[in-house]
Amino acid sequence: MHRLLLVIALMLACSKDEPAPAPAPVPGPVAADPISTTDANSTVVADSGADAGPARPLQAWMKTNMTPAMNAKDFDLLGANLDTIMTFAPKEPGYGNWVSIAKDGKNAAKSADLGAVRAACRGCHEQYKSKYKTELRARPIPP
Ligand code: HEC
Repeated sequence: MHRLLLVIALMLACSKDEPAPAPAPVPGPVAADPISTTDANSTVVADSGADAGPARPLQAWMKTNMTPAMNAKDFDLLGANLDTIMTFAPKEPGYGNWVSIAKDGKNAAKSADLGAVRAACRGCHEQYKSKYKTELRARPIPP
């Protein structure tokens, strides 16, 4: 009986002494995105949109806020986001329809009309996305 207890005690002790799992490798410093260090106008590659670096605040905002709201078909959130986008309207010349497109999208979200919300996304992107990327890409999101 004592022997059995001893064996069990040893087993317990053994399992306690098992080496802890090796710590996950710590990723080294991430190499700077070569795209974001180039002049935004210098290459076509700069507009690939593959990576939301710190120099693309609106793109990052869209990906963080708009994509999940769209995927979830969350009309309340879409409406709130489109409301917020109105405040992002650039003061620079040539963005005259920005607010009205966002407003149309917000109304579409209110009526839970996904197709019309999408049309607002597309409408603004077709009119302003490449212009914005060329002219204002690094601009911070207004608070
Ligand atoms: C009033 C203008 C406007 C509206 C409305 C708008 N966007 Fe955008 N969106 C932009 C601009 C400008 C960019 C480019 C930002 C950049 O790349 O620096 C952009 C970029 C994006 C991106 C980043 C990837 C890409 O295509 O370049 C996503 C994702 C996106 N928008 C999703 C949406 C969705 C989903 C909606 C509708 C629910 C929407 N947006 C509505 C202006 C708008």
